[in-house]
Amino acid sequence: RDNLLFLQGWFHKFPQYRSTDLFIAGESYAGHYIPQLAKLMIGINKKEKLFNLKGIALGNPVLDFATDLNSRAEYFWSHGLISDSTYKMFTSACNYSRYVSEYYRDSVSSICSIVMNQVSTETSRFVDKYDVTLDVCVSTVFSQSKFTSPKQVSERIDVCIEDETVNYLNRKDVRRALHARLIGVRRWEVCSNILDYEFLNIEIPTFNIVGSLVKAGIPVLVYSGDQDSVIPLTGSRTLVHRVAKELGLNTTVPYRVWFAGKQVGGWTQVYGNILSFATIRGASHEAPFSQPERSLMLFKSFLEGKHLPEIF
Ligand SMILES: *[C@@H]1O[C@H](CO)[C@@H](O)[C@H](O)[C@H]1NC(C)=O
Ligand SMILES: *[C@@H]1O[C@H](CO)[C@@H](O)[C@H](O)[C@H]1NC(C)=O
Repeated sequence: RDNLLFLQGWFHKFPQYRSTDLFIAGESYAGHYIPQLAKLMIGINKKEKLFNLKGIALGNPVLDFATDLNSRAEYFWSHGLISDSTYKMFTSACNYSRYVSEYYRDSVSSICSIVMNQVSTETSRFVDKYDVTLDVCVSTVFSQSKFTSPKQVSERIDVCIEDETVNYLNRKDVRRALHARLIGVRRWEVCSNILDYEFLNIEIPTFNIVGSLVKAGIPVLVYSGDQDSVIPLTGSRTLVHRVAKELGLNTTVPYRVWFAGKQVGGWTQVYGNILSFATIRGASHEAPFSQPERSLMLFKSFLEGKHLPEIF
């Protein structure tokens, strides 16, 4: 609702942009707030056509608490991050949705505590859960000074970029240039706890809202960086399929690879030419971070309303 208020105010202030195509995209928890925002926008449009909404894109999104969170166990197991016996415990004794549910209620059971300790030990804090193949930013793992991070000139991906970005955004000259002011905080942070999340809201499913958007004629793309274990591709793929089935949408592009350059950029499937699923091969939770070129190809195709390239 806050986002909606902002957008309404913005389009009233800058009416020249009202006829421009509008897309909204986000990742992770955006699986909650983008479908909800889009639904409110459609509601406003019924009274006053304010938003020229042409589509939404959701990357590694939380759409259904149990499906998304419980995909983690199989992902860890199939990528060799946990043993067979721990996988068994993580699926039968205490699964991840149960643990998170207990955690947010301050009532973690002893069995869940035992299972999660074992999972954490085996997966190791030296593996980035947002991209299990990527190296970690060692200075972050050790929580050392966040002001010096090693420059890894030879590395293709700078795994310390988050620290560097935070430092950059906290520079006085950068803040001035962005006209950004610090209110109620001394430093800008990623996911600052000044945002008062209602944590239990994560348990409310939003894939049904995605379905209602598709039904209202809004194209939806759900994409997955396929190296992410936090919201793994398998859960998202299942949920997109479920939405398609519930809406009676047939497959219009069968599951196939797509290309970026001369290499496979990932896999895709499209339902009813309006609901799309795509993976980005080798990409993290924040896909463009580790696969910028493939992510750009996906983003461009999304904006142009085109299918992902079948050939190169
Ligand atoms: C996870 O655990 C809960 C509580 O024990 C159970 O109701 C649910 O069916 C489990 N889900 C999966 C996918 O195993
Ligand atoms: C989907 O496919 C089924 C089976 O081929 C067909 O009966 C149905 O009409 C199709 N639905 C649409 C919306 O095209």
